Amino acid sequence: TQQMNVGLLGLGTVGTGVLEIIEQHQDKLAHQIGARVEVQKILVSTLDKDRGEHIDRAKLTDRVEDILTDDSIDVIVEVMGGIEEARNYIHKALEHGKHVVTANKDVMALYGSELLQLANEKKCDLFYEASVAGGIPILRTIVEGLASDRITKIMGIVNGTTNYILTQMSKEGRIYEEVLKEAQALGYAEADPTSDVEGLDAARKIAILGTLGFSMRLDLDDVSVQGISNVTSQDLAYGDQLGYTMKLVGIANRDGDKVEVSVQPTLVPHSHPLASVDDEFNAVYVYGEAVGETMFYGPGAGKLPTATAVVSDLVEVLKNKRLGVNGNSAVIPQFEKLLKTDDE
Ligand code: NDP
Ligand code: HSE
Repeated sequence: TQQMNVGLLGLGTVGTGVLEIIEQHQDKLAHQIGARVEVQKILVSTLDKDRGEHIDRAKLTDRVEDILTDDSIDVIVEVMGGIEEARNYIHKALEHGKHVVTANKDVMALYGSELLQLANEKKCDLFYEASVAGGIPILRTIVEGLASDRITKIMGIVNGTTNYILTQMSKEGRIYEEVLKEAQALGYAEADPTSDVEGLDAARKIAILGTLGFSMRLDLDDVSVQGISNVTSQDLAYGDQLGYTMKLVGIANRDGDKVEVSVQPTLVPHSHPLASVDDEFNAVYVYGEAVGETMFYGPGAGKLPTATAVVSDLVEVLKNKRLGVNGNSAVIPQFEKLLKTDDE
């Protein structure tokens, strides 16, 4: 059997999940792709952290060059987070002719286009299914499953941390600070949760969804963003009395050439399907002119759901390798003026 050698950048919530899935599903993976998946080296920032006995410490390094310049490594899995450093490592990995799988929506929303272009030049794959809505395979659904349609609206709950906080505050009467801490302990929140609670994480995800769904690159600067840090228990209670549940909803809408993208706390009628999406779960509603209304639901954050998306991307890399078709990602050009306001 062939072997696919992986260099893992990051061994936190998602990284440990990736190791677990590869180990537990090794037989299925080998059967599906005709190769064993082997994690050869793992980048961490603190070498002497206690990580439990199941981690082979000989694989750990805090020097990224050890991984990026290792010719035996075929694929880099970037699950360390952050922006400039991660972008730089992905760039270098592609320069070295390695395929890349990432869960990093920050990097993909900001630099996806340049990185995908480089990947294509180098005949490498760059996949990022885990970057949006965790365990829901929404990017492939939009790009492949709805390829024949014209999508005009994408709307969703795409941040698990804020949905967990809003659900626990409204249904269990708990306080914001306490629930945020719990979301961090459960591994849903970003290392710095500001991007979750201020809506930026959701904005990056809805920008990626809109870019792929509408085939036009959305500029993050044009997304109007409001988070949940000012939402009070009282707001939630009033909404509830009036028949509404508050959710942080991202919307990307196109009408002709006009595209609008926003993220904001939204009062959703109790009867609407988005109202019953609770805790860390996500849901993405997609409207296509031919298919009509579709909705995708599942865990939006957390170790194993996210790792499933990452490892499925690895399977795709190997399938492409066998067919000799790596490096064919869609690179979507910047649209001249995306968000036209009424007075323009
Ligand atoms: P964690 O903070 O749990 O883990 C980050 C890991 O990366 C740690 O092992 C850390 O090392 C290592 N690391 C971080 N910075 C560096 C650096 N500069 N150099 C070397 N190693 C570094 O993050 P998550 O696993 O939660 O998230 C990882 C990525 O996945 C992020 O981009 C996140 O947005 C994305 N994501 C996360 C989801 C989730 O549910 N958690 C869901 C979907 C996407 P050490 O262990 O030594 O501290
Ligand atoms: N912090 C993110 C969230 C992780 O809460 O949704 C998943 O992308």
